[in-house]
Amino acid sequence: MLLKDKLFRNLVLVLLCLLQLTGSLTAQTAMVNVLNRNKTSLNGNWQVIIDPNGIGEWKQVWQEKKPQKKTDFVEYSFDGGPYLKVPGDFNSQLCELSWFEGTVWYKKQFNHTPQTGKRLFLHFGAVNYLADVYLNGLKIGSHEGGFTPFQFEITDKVKTGINTIVVKANNNRQGNGLPGTGYDWFNYGGITRDVDLIETNSSYIEDYFIQLKKGSLNRVLGWVQLNGAQAAQNIKLKIPELNLVFKARSDDKGRAKIDFSSHFNLWSPENPKLYKVIIESETDSIADEIGFRCIEVQGNKVLLNKKPIFLKAVNIHEENPLEKARAYSMNDAKLLLNSAKELGCNLIRLAHYPHNENMIKEAEKMGLMVWDELPVYQHVQFSDSVVPQKMETMLKEMIRRDKNRAAVIVWSLSNETYSGTSNRNNALVELTRKCRAMDSTRLINHVMNTQSYVDNSFNIWDTLYKYSDLISINEYIGWYDPWQGKPSDTKWKVAFPDKPIFISEFGGEALYGNKNVPADEAASWSEEYQEQIYKDQIEMFGTIPNLCGVCPWILFDYRSLGRMHPVYQKGYNRKGLISDKGEKKKAWNIMHQYYKKK
Ligand code: GCU
Repeated sequence: MLLKDKLFRNLVLVLLCLLQLTGSLTAQTAMVNVLNRNKTSLNGNWQVIIDPNGIGEWKQVWQEKKPQKKTDFVEYSFDGGPYLKVPGDFNSQLCELSWFEGTVWYKKQFNHTPQTGKRLFLHFGAVNYLADVYLNGLKIGSHEGGFTPFQFEITDKVKTGINTIVVKANNNRQGNGLPGTGYDWFNYGGITRDVDLIETNSSYIEDYFIQLKKGSLNRVLGWVQLNGAQAAQNIKLKIPELNLVFKARSDDKGRAKIDFSSHFNLWSPENPKLYKVIIESETDSIADEIGFRCIEVQGNKVLLNKKPIFLKAVNIHEENPLEKARAYSMNDAKLLLNSAKELGCNLIRLAHYPHNENMIKEAEKMGLMVWDELPVYQHVQFSDSVVPQKMETMLKEMIRRDKNRAAVIVWSLSNETYSGTSNRNNALVELTRKCRAMDSTRLINHVMNTQSYVDNSFNIWDTLYKYSDLISINEYIGWYDPWQGKPSDTKWKVAFPDKPIFISEFGGEALYGNKNVPADEAASWSEEYQEQIYKDQIEMFGTIPNLCGVCPWILFDYRSLGRMHPVYQKGYNRKGLISDKGEKKKAWNIMHQYYKKK
């Protein structure tokens, strides 16, 4: 090897070590459609070290030092310690972790035989909230964000035989995090979704976008993105059921434009039609099940496939109420989604962060539209210089994963942020612009609670409504704000009066089965009080101009440690229409009847 080559190689090695030391390796945005790739699951039991004092970094536990001499000792070990199931939050698996917010170190080994011409990726469905990942004692990178997938290419780092992965999962609340330090749900930590090894060819189909063009019922406008040295390739997109083959060629950046028309059996809640779509390059192929539908706002109406639709929604947190744990599995998804269907919903708002892919894929099959939301929640430090980049990264990760799901009709970019926060408007207007540039085919939204309720007049306004396709408002008249008159006499005054209004949250609390208490007092947490809120809200809905949909907060009672009443709450937000044991409250029937008549 020539001297100059040696010098270059050593320079690269020094750079890599520097990156290792500074830990500045950030995760890659994950490839799409992991389900249908050549993958090896790493789910199952992982050894763990619980690190309440956060000293595992200082001890460098990923190196798994062992005593060398008789007089040596090491004050940590994965061996002999507990195991945790992956996927799954750590709080619900060990009683000493019930309310834990801190670091847990996970370890998993796998056997590998490198294949010529193949590439290997380590893919995480999600880790809440910060993840540092090590392979064979070397840091391969980090990821921030508890609800979106990420990956690392380990082709050149994996060795033949046994390899060891160590993951530092930390769910401490971050002041400049998304969400920030204050939020009304349980802060489940850990490796909360699937972990997979994915093997690809040297050039593979990394990403694609196959959806109807905005406003069209028959024209698909999308793209395919290859990754690998062979950028310019012949691409085929096949839809066997339509006898359709569309051919294209990717450019020198591996990008191929997809643009074809056909007659589709359109996806809708009544007809959740999905087509098998096969994408082929010269070196890879991948199949997906894709629906085709058109969602848009026209005047004060939401149109699905050119017909007005009323959004009969419900809010859902990613929690299996019966397991008291972060939801992640297909069974968890079916429990939550069947319950939404039974209520009579056609839309689910996945509060307040992207849920696991099972929820979205199963909702699509069941004919439930999906509201996909970023954890840009209430107190966000918009003026911290790192926050806009974090928001953009999470947006990219959410859109990349879910953009081929026809059921997803809304990208929701924030919830109840405060208009007075420094840089909030600039940051969120910019985020909206970026979102529209990434995907113009869906509704883009901000959820607000900027409001005043005086003399039975309900006034809502916010700069962000100018950039949102819907006027989404969270209002709790009848719970946080007592009624000021007859509900049907409430006068609604809305900034941007020509846009559709979506009540993205309403409701109140009740403890299921709470009897022998004054039914007309909020402080009794009675079912009757909650039931009356729903009756009054529905009376008011009849007078709201441009109402395009409603979304009660929330389907199930769910864990939130700030809800501290020792008799009625016990660490639960009791606004569920259904208790955490699956018992329907009186208000459930009111909502069910309303949706049946809609
Ligand atoms: C807010 C917020 C929810 C919260 C709810 C409540 O509107 O968006 O996350 O749980 O109110 O107070 O119960």
